[in-house]
Formats: sequence, C-alpha cells, structure tokens
Amino acid sequence: MGYTGHRPALDVVLDGLRRLEYRGYDSAGVAVLDGDGGLAVERKAGRLANLEARLDEVGRDSLTGGTGMGHTRWATHGAPVDRNSHPHRDTTGRIAVVHNGIIENFAQLRAELEADGIELASDTDSETAAHLVSRIYDGDLAAAVRTVSRRLEGAFTLVVTHADEPDKVVAARRSSPLVVGVGEGETFLASDVAAFIEHTRNAVELGQDQVVVITKDGYEVTDFHGEPVQAKPFEVNWDLSAAEKGGHDYFMLKEIEEQPEALANTLRGHFTDGRIVLDEQRLADQDLRDVDKVFVVACGTAYHSGLVAKYAIEHWTRLPVECELASEFRYRDPVLDRDTLVVAISQSGETADTLEAVRHAREQKARVLAICNTNGAQIPRESDAVLYTHAGPEIGVAATKTFLAQIATNYLVGLALAQARGTKYPDEVAREFHELEAMPAAVQQALGTVGQVRELAHELSDSKAILFLGRHVGFPVALEGALKLKELAYMHAEGFAAGELKHGPIALIEDQLPVVVVMPSPKGRAVLHSKLLSNISEIQARGARTIVIAEEGDDTVKPFADHLIEVPAVPTLLQPLVSSVPLQVLAAEIARSRGYDVDKPRNLAKSVTVE
Ligand code: AGP
Repeated sequence: MGYTGHRPALDVVLDGLRRLEYRGYDSAGVAVLDGDGGLAVERKAGRLANLEARLDEVGRDSLTGGTGMGHTRWATHGAPVDRNSHPHRDTTGRIAVVHNGIIENFAQLRAELEADGIELASDTDSETAAHLVSRIYDGDLAAAVRTVSRRLEGAFTLVVTHADEPDKVVAARRSSPLVVGVGEGETFLASDVAAFIEHTRNAVELGQDQVVVITKDGYEVTDFHGEPVQAKPFEVNWDLSAAEKGGHDYFMLKEIEEQPEALANTLRGHFTDGRIVLDEQRLADQDLRDVDKVFVVACGTAYHSGLVAKYAIEHWTRLPVECELASEFRYRDPVLDRDTLVVAISQSGETADTLEAVRHAREQKARVLAICNTNGAQIPRESDAVLYTHAGPEIGVAATKTFLAQIATNYLVGLALAQARGTKYPDEVAREFHELEAMPAAVQQALGTVGQVRELAHELSDSKAILFLGRHVGFPVALEGALKLKELAYMHAEGFAAGELKHGPIALIEDQLPVVVVMPSPKGRAVLHSKLLSNISEIQARGARTIVIAEEGDDTVKPFADHLIEVPAVPTLLQPLVSSVPLQVLAAEIARSRGYDVDKPRNLAKSVTVE
C-alpha cells in the first residue's frame, strides 16, 4: 500500500494493511517520509500485530508525515524473518521499496550489484530493486523506476519512495495487481481496493507495464518508456467485507477465480533455453538420474494431486511411482533407500502426518523433495530439496488454487526427471511444457461454468448424497470432488474409479441419486471414453441423475447427461486442471445454499499440525 495526502500516512497505511493482511502473514512493514528529508522504516516478521507491537515499543514519533507505504509479506525468496521484511532500502537509506511478485532475473541482478560493491542486507529478490533505483537516480524518481522496470523480468508491483521527493509515491506494475484510489486531497495505491474504500470509492486500475506517480492532487500514468497512458477510472460499489474477498461472498470463490494466475505464477521461470529449470530445488541432475523409484506422500487434497502426478511421472519417466497417504506411509515399513525419491506435497508445509513421513524417509536415506506453498515452513526445512508452488496465500480452508498449482509442480518434477534421465527427447519435454503453459487460459475458460454450476448446486442442495466417478486421471478428480463436498457441505460423498462400480458401489444407485461423472476426452484415450460411456448408461438405467463434466463438443455423451457441464478440450494428462474447477464451485455453492460457512467449515483447520 502507498499513500500521500492530508492525513498522517502511518495511520492510513496501517488501516490499509489490516484489510490486506490476508495476502500474507509472514511479515509487515511501513515507511513514512516526514517531508523534511527524513525516511523512517519499521518492519517485523510475523503478523501485522507484531509490527504494531514494535511501533508501540519504539514509539511512533519518528513516523510522522503525510507520505508513506506499507507491505504484508507472503514469502517467496528468503525466509520470513525481520531482515527479509519489506520495505527494503538502498545503501543510502533514502530510497524505500516494497514489492509484490517474483523478480525472475534477480540472481543476475544481485550478482551485478555485488560486483559493484553493494552489500545486500536481505535474501530477497525485492531488495535488488531498491539498489537498482538508487544506482541510476538523478533527481527524477519516476524516470528511475521506469528504467529499472524495463530491466526486471517476472511479475512485480513495486512501490517506491525517495526522501528527496517526499510528496510523491511511484509505483510500477507488471502481472501483479495494483489499483489507485483517488480521494479529496489524498491519493492511495494498493494491491486491492479493500485497502482504501473506507476513504474513497473512486479507483483506477493500472494496466500491464505501467508506472504511476501519485501526489495528493492526483495521479499520472505512463508506460515503462514514459509515454503517457490514459488509465480507466471506475467506481467501487462493493461493501468492505466483499471488497476483501475481491467482490465475492467468500474467499474460496475468489481463490477459485485466481487459479489461472496461480498456475501462471507456478510455471513462471521454469523453462529456459529449451530446458526445464527447477532452480530452487537442490537436487543435481545426477541425483535425478540415480532415482529408481518415486514415492509421493501427502494428505487430503495434496494427496489427490499426487495421484494425478503418478499417471504423468510414470508415463514420462518409466519409473515406478507409488502415491501414498502420509499417515499410512511410515507405519507400513515402505521399501526406501538412497535411490528413492520421496516427493512430499503440502500446501502449508506444516502438516504433521506429512512431516513425520518426511522424517521417516530421510532416516531410511531416501532423498526428499518437498512441494510446498509456504516459504520456510517445516517440511521444506527438513527436506533435501524444495519446489515452491507460487499460488499465493489461500484463506479458504478448502484447498483450490493450491491443488492446481501442486499438479503443475508435480508435472514439472516429472518433466525434470524425464529430461535428466533422457526418457523424453528435449523437443518432447518442450512440447509438454508448452501445453502446460497454455493451461491458465484453459482454466480461465473453465471458469465460464461458474454460473451454470451455481444453479445446479441450488437444485442439488437437498440431496442426501452425491457420488463421483472417473477413470485414469479423472479418478483422483472424482476423489477430490467428493472430498470438497464432504468438507464444505457436510454431505455424504464418495469418489470411485468408474470400473470399480460393478464390484460393489453400484448397489448404492437409486432413483434420482446425483452422480457426477468426470469424462475423459473422446480424442485422447478413446478406450477410456467408451468404457465410461458404458458406466454412465449402467447408472442411468438404475435411475441415477447424471451430472457429466465433459470436453466441449463431445456429442456422444449428451444422451447420457441429465446435466452437462462442458470444459475446454486439453490433453488427457492436463484434464484435472480444468475438470476440477466446476467440482470446486459445486461443493462451495451447495455449502452456501445449505447455509454453511464456506471458508471455515466445521471441525477443520487450514493446517493440521497433529497426527
Ligand atoms: C483440502 O481441501 C483440505 N483442507 C485438506 O485435505 C488438506 O489438503 C490437507 O490437510 C493437507 O494439507 P497440506 O497441503 O497443508 O499438507
């Protein structure tokens, strides 16, 4: 958040940060310019409350002035500790920067700054921006920010202040959110409007690759080359609580809609010069070549992402892959040695069952690669290597965008193994990656089903139970659809491999029982498609009400579908990324129709730290 105007900046910024805190709980910080050439910064690891306690301790007298900015952090580069908290300063201490996003070429920029004799005070990618601005600053902060922005690769919102220009705040945006709030004699900058709508409802959304300068009298927008840009103003008509949820009634729907962005962020920077690059993980290519077996261990939704991965990793690498519930893994004496790769998937990185599985695997000398959404959490700390999903903070207890990001990250691991072991030619690896790269757009298209699914949810909200069927990668999607419904709508739900139906579960089918069927593509594995068509006709003949998730244009399925939900056509292994979307919405909206709290279902916690 940034502010300049007639009020004390510290109060406005702290209020704004309270509204934005859900975006990251790793640290919080503020910078205030006193107007006489002074720039004061306070920052603290942990929640905003820690920063406020720190301000009470040191006093707020040094932080007076009408221009300031603040930040709450969700760590990507560098552990969540004080020195990695924002704002970051240059070596003169006169420039302060907060950053949201990932600067992909930061290693190169860091090396360049160090070669210039600049000692960086943090492990973050963000700090490089402060020094880069400082190095070229010649009296025009906006010009310096534009020049630096052109050098940065990746996604960023930068907010920058300089003690020599105390009446303005400069910000730049590429692929990360940034809005301007225009008040009377005051102007705001924030990642979302929730930060300032108690002061003004007049907002301006910035476009890609734009720089904005705010003063108390207004704002000016240019592109990264200084060409003026006409930005589009809009009026915010949400109330405060809706604004925090991006205009939605609950966080989970906001997070479902953030899935294209989460996927793009997770994939960003992992394919360079024709190769998969997993630079955060600390396993050398030789380690990957030595692997002779893969175990995936995880719980709940993360486990379902692992089940999806099994199909891809075995197909691409010809390595045997076992996917196992973390709570079962260590109690059954699995066969592990130093050539076993254990992939431990956990959104929170704190799940006790998964952590104990990691410890067990390491005791047995297996190599452990963590896939995690929370920087610096216990599971990555105790693993040999880590790959972070960059899905952003997930507030809803039910995992949604982190599920998709986990699937994508698992696929990156599979492709890295295939590349290192030579089981796929480089052009095949490249093709698989590019197909993955097209998925944010496909997921965006799948989000077009939200309205239809909402209506259906309303109709199904009185059902006693719902069954879910799938084959191949559609089977874990069915399990995940059922888990979502159980945890949110407190409704009996079960997922089955469609081929298992005739071995028992078909006895459950009765008149009007809703059954969700996840259809494979007719163009991918034709045999799977025709087998599933037979399964649907079997349940339809017994009176089931069929809800079919199928590829758009799949006409063969129409006679079997009481409700047809069409998702975009994508390669078979990638189908879970689109077919999961309507199932997430279905569970959330049934829960809502039943009057339940979608974001905080009963008896559950976001991170389960007991075994
Ligand atoms: C999913 O909606 C759940 N809330 C739950 O199953 C979750 O995925 C599981 O507890 C694992 O959590 P983790 O990814 O943080 O380890």
